[in-house]
Amino acid sequence: MPQTPRQPERRQFLLRIGAAAGCGALVPLLHGCETAELYTLPPLHVEVTFDLAKSPYDALKTVGASLDVTFGNVDGLLVRVSDAQIIGVTRICPHQQGNIKWDKAGATLVCTTHAAKFASNGAVTGQPNNGDTLTTMLPTWAVTFDAATGKGTVQT
Ligand code: FES
Repeated sequence: MPQTPRQPERRQFLLRIGAAAGCGALVPLLHGCETAELYTLPPLHVEVTFDLAKSPYDALKTVGASLDVTFGNVDGLLVRVSDAQIIGVTRICPHQQGNIKWDKAGATLVCTTHAAKFASNGAVTGQPNNGDTLTTMLPTWAVTFDAATGKGTVQT
């Protein structure tokens, strides 16, 4: 099956990002872009601080827990993969924009559409179940985390 992106939804998503970021020049640019160009837009460099003592980040107090987040209109997922490490990834699969979830039992990131799997660094560890070959990594975010204080930052 060919890789056909959901163009209208993706375009609306990116237009919202442009509006939220105050990028007036970005919006007209997006209207004239082909789909392939839309996927290569640079990250918006949103930085968010978090504290596990406060909601909703208290959900990450337990190793193996995950939390859906939206930063700058970008949907992502934070996962407490160990005592000392929290990872951050986008929730949009690079295959056909399915939703990414954390599989706690398998300790892996899984797409809910075609079951592609990703390591915590975004590397593809399992191919989509529709016969396509996926080589594009899942975009990750830079996360700092101090387990002693429970505080950290996420940079998209
Ligand atoms: S959309 Fe196909 S594996 Fe994610």
